[in-house]
Amino acid sequence: MNFVNNEELRVQKKFLNKGYYIFNIKDKKNLTRIKKSIIKISKEWLKKKYKKKNQNFTLDNTHNEISIKDLNSYRLYVYEKINSYKWFSKAYFSLGKRYLEMICGNELVMQKKCNLSIQLPNDDSSTLPLHSDVWVGDSEYEIVLWLPLVDCYRTKSMFILPTDKNNKFSKKFFKYKSTNKLFTAVKPHLKWLKIDYGQGLLFTQNIMHGNVANSEKGTRWSFNCRFKAIFSPYRDKSIGVFFKPITMKPVTKLGMSYKYPNEK
Ligand SMILES: [Fe+2]
Repeated sequence: MNFVNNEELRVQKKFLNKGYYIFNIKDKKNLTRIKKSIIKISKEWLKKKYKKKNQNFTLDNTHNEISIKDLNSYRLYVYEKINSYKWFSKAYFSLGKRYLEMICGNELVMQKKCNLSIQLPNDDSSTLPLHSDVWVGDSEYEIVLWLPLVDCYRTKSMFILPTDKNNKFSKKFFKYKSTNKLFTAVKPHLKWLKIDYGQGLLFTQNIMHGNVANSEKGTRWSFNCRFKAIFSPYRDKSIGVFFKPITMKPVTKLGMSYKYPNEK
């Protein structure tokens, strides 16, 4: 039995079939606010570090402004700053809320800080080899909201092994002696996601995914943030430490604080 409307059913089926779902973001106001803030913070950093006042800075062009040796401290600066803004988490959530509720639940916890990736063209220092996060301690009930800040395609994007192939290769997982060997075997089946700025991606970390060095012309910018239903099982990442509750309902609050009458 499934009491959902046709649209939800369509989204849910597509997600279950492939392990991911790409959607158009309706909340342009918050999307623009996030992108504009990132550009402002970047200009601040450029001014501080390189004494450069670059008014024409664009995210796609980051590789022309920042050297690889400074990339990580620059990334951390932007990451800390954007995550320190009180409005940021809520704005980020709002971009995927509609589909998170269809796919995951309406009482959710959210990762306290959204991760930020910046991949300069031909820089292999920030690649993420083939993996499933559930192999290393993430709950199989988590979902990731991945947000590109530039148009992402081919090696400037990420790859995913769709559900059917993932299930097939997971069964013979231990036959492969290394991640490299597994990668070679699954490579023909990988889906390189084309996601433009203005779109969002929801995917399960139960399926294999990763990226390679960006060999396209522009710099890749993307956020990723995990969500899960508040009462679904946790693994290494716990509520309060890694996740924060964001949409708890009154009945849940009542239930959690209820004390049975006591004779004493
Ligand atoms: Fe991952």
